[in-house]
Amino acid sequence: MSPASVPTINAHGAAIPAVGYGTMLFPEPERAVELILHALECGYRHIDTARKYGTEQWVGEGIRASGVPREDIWVTTKVTEENAQADDFARSVDTSLETMGLDHVDLLLIHWPQPNVPLAETLGALAKAKRDGLARNIGVSNFTIPLLDEATAKCPEPLVTNQIEYHTYINQDRLIAACRKHGLLITCHAPLARGAMLDDPVIVEIAAAHNKTPAQVALRWTVQQPGIGVVPRALEFSEIEENIAIFDFALSDMEMGRIGQLKERNLRVIDPEVRRPVWDEA
Ligand SMILES: NC(=O)c1ccc[n+]([C@@H]2O[C@H](COP(=O)([O-])OP(=O)(O)OC[C@H]3O[C@@H](n4cnc5c(N)ncnc54)[C@H](OP(=O)(O)O)[C@@H]3O)[C@@H](O)[C@H]2O)c1
Repeated sequence: MSPASVPTINAHGAAIPAVGYGTMLFPEPERAVELILHALECGYRHIDTARKYGTEQWVGEGIRASGVPREDIWVTTKVTEENAQADDFARSVDTSLETMGLDHVDLLLIHWPQPNVPLAETLGALAKAKRDGLARNIGVSNFTIPLLDEATAKCPEPLVTNQIEYHTYINQDRLIAACRKHGLLITCHAPLARGAMLDDPVIVEIAAAHNKTPAQVALRWTVQQPGIGVVPRALEFSEIEENIAIFDFALSDMEMGRIGQLKERNLRVIDPEVRRPVWDEA
């Protein structure tokens, strides 16, 4: 198997591989390293982790085991909302780097908004991590339109992305427009809606027409839109391979439109009660 070649999405000098490998909810350590290693062998050059996931150590081990030069791999990690105060934030970044055995990440994100800490304080800590060379790029995750307006106004360094839930089953049109207005890329988490759309008749039909799988069509629909990347998680080698093999076909305008209508379902699969912001209306 030859490694896949993946295009990048670009903003503020950042070139993020449009498909990354998500590492949330992972199995036991030995298998975790094996999975990350397999992703790198298939051609993934973007790994998405977070302090909260408990997978940073395995990401570091997988990268070292792969022999792929560090500078060829885009590593994203995130600071949880429990560490939104500046001192805690800085400690979290240091711990992430130490855990991964890396001296910097390519992208550092505020994982979830924290209403109890002034956003300017957290943004200051985020920007400081960049200025100190610990993060090449910075961004946010799960930010709504009002939070994005505030963050882009207050952050001393440019934000490159908002990592949000986006897939064929959710309407994020207004939030995506806001990201674009502010010059941010969109990184989609849960891009397969944890599998919810994989037996949708429209997706199944279009997949058959292209001789692709439903997952490939769902991911292709997403990355075929400008400035949008995805970080699917898969625990089967075959699915890891499948999810990156989406750049050798294209959906027609009509197919894009048909799949685009599925958003009316407005299914949000990542909606944790303790930290959800007031989501934007569709
Ligand atoms: N910023 C945030 O707050 C946030 C929140 C959630 C997720 N994330 C990031 O986004 C990543 C992905 O999100 P997610 O894991 O929640 O959901 P997801 O990627 O939408 O879905 C993962 C599910 O889809 C299945 N799957 C993957 N590829 C498949 C394929 N080719 N065919 C059939 N089924 C397939 C997986 O099955 P198996 O597991 O059985 O292989 C798994 O059950 C996470 O790992 C994390 O890095 C970020």
